[in-house]
Amino acid sequence: MQKTMEKIAALAKGRGFIYSGSEIYGGLQSTWDYGPLGVELKNNIKAAWWKKFVQQNPLNVGLDASILMNSKVWEASGHVGGFSDPLMDCKDCKERHRADHVIEGFMEANPGKVTGITTVDGIGKDVLKGIIDEHKIACPTCGKHNFTDIREFNLMFKTHAGVVEDSKNVVYLRPETAQGIFTNFKNVLRTSRKKVPFGIAQIGKAFRNEITPGNYIYRTREFEQMELEFFTSPQEADKWFEHWVDFCHKWLLGIGLKAENIRLYEQTPEQRAHYSVGCFDIEYLFPFGWGEVWGIANRTNYDLAAHDTHSNEDMLYFDQEANEKYFPYVIEPSLGADRLLLAVLCDAYDEEVVGDPNAEKPDIRTVLRLHPALAPIKAAVLPLSKKLSPKALEICDELSAYFAVDYDDAGSIGKRYRRYDEIGTPFCITVDFQTVGDEETPADNAVTVRFRDSMEQERVAVADLKDFIVEKLKY
Ligand code: GAP
Repeated sequence: MQKTMEKIAALAKGRGFIYSGSEIYGGLQSTWDYGPLGVELKNNIKAAWWKKFVQQNPLNVGLDASILMNSKVWEASGHVGGFSDPLMDCKDCKERHRADHVIEGFMEANPGKVTGITTVDGIGKDVLKGIIDEHKIACPTCGKHNFTDIREFNLMFKTHAGVVEDSKNVVYLRPETAQGIFTNFKNVLRTSRKKVPFGIAQIGKAFRNEITPGNYIYRTREFEQMELEFFTSPQEADKWFEHWVDFCHKWLLGIGLKAENIRLYEQTPEQRAHYSVGCFDIEYLFPFGWGEVWGIANRTNYDLAAHDTHSNEDMLYFDQEANEKYFPYVIEPSLGADRLLLAVLCDAYDEEVVGDPNAEKPDIRTVLRLHPALAPIKAAVLPLSKKLSPKALEICDELSAYFAVDYDDAGSIGKRYRRYDEIGTPFCITVDFQTVGDEETPADNAVTVRFRDSMEQERVAVADLKDFIVEKLKY
């Protein structure tokens, strides 16, 4: 079975997980809308993260800060001055490129040609331009070597608050959720009575005017982040850094991602963001190659110290036990919800031959082997005949109080099973004549539960059904 992005995107579109944004107007590049199943999957991913990082974690609390923040926040954080990518245009075909990506592509295709560097990360625009010209690197789109100069392009979306469009009213759409956490550090400290070490977690939208978005929902201009800012004493920062790298890795395995599709990559000093002294990326093996899903960085005390200076608010922490004041260090596991959703979809997608593989036309079953906790619909209630609808609807209604269920009475039972396999529904519940009985046979008040992955079946009493399924949703 070849797992391709085309197959996965086709299933996601066809079954209502992900649609192109603004489709009826021809779309808007790199925007995507989550359909009825997509929003359930995404909500389940976010809920699983929140459960592990906040609900079940006595060290962490949650926050929901606004997307629009005072522009001074982004001056202090370094985003106004430094959050940019090197942009250049091809003068021939007019295609816009990230200069560093063009050089990376050339280095991959021509190993050893560019000497003196191992990575383009952290290299200034003049040096990048020098490399492009020295090697006459061609435009990836048209093959000509005729580029404009490179300019630094700030990735933040800029707009104005209120009716007057002047520089005093400039606001940015946040490019990361983290700053809402740092600016509320003292508020949370005061109102939650937490002591270092502790963490503040947040899920929310972030926006970046990416020069080259793409790879489906992997790199977009609007996306959602799930971030934890974990505050620690400087002495314990390395210990917590190791802890969170391991914790995040294990959580991905816990929600069902296959170990062989996940790897840890330690960023080189050149690759790290300006605020970081250590960073591990957790990468996933997408059909298009390895890609970062989670960045776990040691941000030092960069942010709190910067806000202390720029805001004139005292951001120091008083450690009662040590009887000293310091700016806590921050360990930041930052995860993209959309990227993780893509990884989850890719990991779960499977095609298998059912029955005789040598048959003239083998029976191929497409199945999303999602962890039950993430599956958009946990159980489908299927009456064997329309006459059994009232009982099936009654069961459906009862179960819907506990998890997402669906009802389907259209088509053969085999076809219905396959429809639910394709969207990752772990349990199909078949209501048959035995369930309700008739004049000759007493009702057994039980249903057949068919398991998505094994296709095995088990008879379960209706009265036990809810607990039977809830037990299997745990992770
Ligand atoms: N606060 C730190 C921070 O934002 P980052 O490495 O720039 O760090 C963290 O982003 C995560 O956010 C990435 O690992 C990725 O999962 C997600 N992400 C970043 N840019 C994205 C984009 N353009 N589209 C989708 N997800 C993105």
